Amino acid sequence: MPPRLFLTSGDLLADRRFEFARDLQLKGDLVAAADLLDQAVELAPNFASAWFTLGEIRERLGETDAAIAAFCRAREADALDRHGATLKLMRLGAEPLAEMPKAYVQSLFDQYAPRFDQALLHHLDYRGPELLFKAVLAVRAAARKPAFFDRAIDLGCGTGLAAAAFARQVGAFTGIDLSPGMIERARATGLYAELEVADMLEGLRDRGDASADLVLAGDAMVYVSDVTAVASEARRVLVPGGLLAFTVETHAGDGVIIGHGLRYAHGAEYLRRAMTAAGLVMAHLEAASPRNEDNTPVPGLVAVATKT
Ligand SMILES: C[S@@+](CC[C@H](N)C(=O)[O-])C[C@H]1O[C@@H](n2cnc3c(N)ncnc32)[C@H](O)[C@@H]1O
Repeated sequence: MPPRLFLTSGDLLADRRFEFARDLQLKGDLVAAADLLDQAVELAPNFASAWFTLGEIRERLGETDAAIAAFCRAREADALDRHGATLKLMRLGAEPLAEMPKAYVQSLFDQYAPRFDQALLHHLDYRGPELLFKAVLAVRAAARKPAFFDRAIDLGCGTGLAAAAFARQVGAFTGIDLSPGMIERARATGLYAELEVADMLEGLRDRGDASADLVLAGDAMVYVSDVTAVASEARRVLVPGGLLAFTVETHAGDGVIIGHGLRYAHGAEYLRRAMTAAGLVMAHLEAASPRNEDNTPVPGLVAVATKT
């Protein structure tokens, strides 16, 4: 489980009520927890963490309107929306699907960074890098081209797990990630020639035309709803014959949805259309689970698209 964000209300009594409420919530006494949170937000009306938790509890209790109201208050109380109330509102159908708040991704992964590798590799059995590696090798073998790439860009590079899998296949790696905490971990690996704290789309926009041979995104497009925009920019940045390789979580339908883990899931047909719209050719699209959730493999896809 990713860590849970807590933003103090600045009021000791309200913070205490919140802590008790969380204990009760974890013990399953949702009604009593909601009662305490109501008290906390009465004491501190701009207590974003309490509003957000209240929203979650109201949702669990089936009180959808009250949940929506609480998530709206959480976002008003923290305009950066570090809890990701917007995602909850999208999931509840109160708002149309859109990109997730950048501050939510940043604070999630800044908190996660110190124990990310252990959590992903040991608890979630993360398989993204090896899936990408095998898929890229297969595409290169089918094209009868060597699987060596002078310059690669790792989008949402995190701590560098994908770069580690490709280390022997790449001359120089550039890593781009929204989270300074993850970038620090990536820097410590020594795997990257260059690292940048940026949104992946903005980071790609700063790169020159035909300046990369490979663009990777391991378990990072799950935080991006509009894959077409990123793929279009990747196409511009890639040399002819260059590859864009990424994993996603998926669902049986078409289009893009938000799963209950607050990550996007992209349908297979959506991805095919996205690659075509971006001017890339889908060379490999395979059902493959990148990681587990509650000890169950999450449905996923591994995709490799080529710039012709
Ligand atoms: C689950 S981690 C995967 C890290 C790494 N690619 C790997 O395979 O281990 C997702 C990473 O994507 C980053 N991320 C999410 N959305 C992003 C965005 N829009 N732009 C840049 N990085 C993003 C997060 O900060 C996080 O480090």
